[in-house]
Amino acid sequence: RGLRVADRGFLNTAVIESAITYIDGERGILRYRGYPIEQLAEKSTFLECAYLLIYGALPARSQLSHFEREVLLHGIMHADATKFFGSFRYDAHPMAMLTSAFAYLGSYYGEANPSLQGQTLFTKCAKGDPEALQNMDKQIYRLIGKAITLAAMAYRVRQGREFVVPPTGMSYAESFLYQLDHLSPTDSFSASSSASPSPSPYKPHPVLARALDILFILHADHEMNASSTTVLQTGSSLPDPYSAVAAGCASLYGPLHGGANEAVIRMLVSIGSPNNVPTFLAAVKRREKVLSGFGHRVYKTSDPRSFIIRKIADEVFAVTGPDPLLDTAMALHDAALKDDYFVSRKLAPNVDFWSGLIYRAMGFPMDFFPVLFVVPRIVGWVAHWRQMMLSPEGVKIWRPRQIYVGPSERSYVPFDERE
Ligand code: CMC
Repeated sequence: RGLRVADRGFLNTAVIESAITYIDGERGILRYRGYPIEQLAEKSTFLECAYLLIYGALPARSQLSHFEREVLLHGIMHADATKFFGSFRYDAHPMAMLTSAFAYLGSYYGEANPSLQGQTLFTKCAKGDPEALQNMDKQIYRLIGKAITLAAMAYRVRQGREFVVPPTGMSYAESFLYQLDHLSPTDSFSASSSASPSPSPYKPHPVLARALDILFILHADHEMNASSTTVLQTGSSLPDPYSAVAAGCASLYGPLHGGANEAVIRMLVSIGSPNNVPTFLAAVKRREKVLSGFGHRVYKTSDPRSFIIRKIADEVFAVTGPDPLLDTAMALHDAALKDDYFVSRKLAPNVDFWSGLIYRAMGFPMDFFPVLFVVPRIVGWVAHWRQMMLSPEGVKIWRPRQIYVGPSERSYVPFDERE
């Protein structure tokens, strides 16, 4: 009652006050807890950024070691909890597997379930209850640690290969590559493997591992994007955090969000060569096609992450050799940026325009690209979830309104009298 205009797509609705990530879409600025993304990409690591996003400050050395140890330790899955992966078809989309896997973890860790443990389980954290805070931290370590384990399991199901136990003594990105046992053409093998055989000779290439770590930093958070909003919307009715993260995975899966990097490669393959770019852009302007990897709800100038990614792309291509689609991507990029249709609508390349090309050069299959986005974004989701749970005002269920435009009251019509 009283509502006259619906804010379709939440173009002008702020749903929360947040101290986590700042974006200025007009000036192309992105900061995590006040630190510019460019500085973090150059100087930080993914797990340090994770700590920063979740707890609000750069960690002291000892805090970071503790956090890294806990996260990597919690990557290990109980053997029982891996069995359900056997029920997936060999060709299931990895995002479908990952979404189900997080929901499954919700069934596995009853201690994180407010329906079982009492509604105030995590809301007690706002009052500083040490046991509740410890429980919350544990779920956070688990969610981040298990993200790479579950993602690697989804990858290996596709290949019909055994799962790899998370290693020790590796960074987060290295551990992920190790568990994938992902063999891109340039991967190096331990020089000492012939002299002293080790359990696995696989060693992630340092340039590729660092590139992946930076890509994880860039994807870790982006304030109220569709999936973070979904996690909070779901979390606001107080389910366990695994269920909220499963909902976030489902949201991120779509081609307008985390599926865009996959869509970019499909688009470039379909364009085929730089010569076909004008025909493709004409179809976009007739609204028959979408220029994937361009446009953003918030950035009305360039996405600052796209410049950093462009630089990483060069570093990765120096190791792997350039992607044959690069010429088409460059031609498309340059033509769109000169075309009045895109200029007048302030459509510029977003983070996904280049990321898919990097993942492809590293040898990842296309349908695994959204997984490479979701793994780091889980950090942003738990940062937002924790912030909401710790809010001094308490958690308010997210229950928006609608404007009803259906029929007014009418009487039930029996079958025989229906037209
Ligand atoms: N190709 C062609 N036209 C576009 C595109 C595009 N990629 N993006 C927006 N437009 C047009 C749109 O048709 C509209 O035109 P008009 O005013 O004549 O009707 C105008 O530009 C404004 O766009 P909008 O649809 O109001 O923008 P939005 O904020 O609702 O949507 C978006 C944002 C990201 C969903 C959209 O730009 C899009 O679909 N881009 C392609 C998919 C993509 O790259 N997604 C990744 C986003 S970044 C990472 C992430 O968040 O996951």
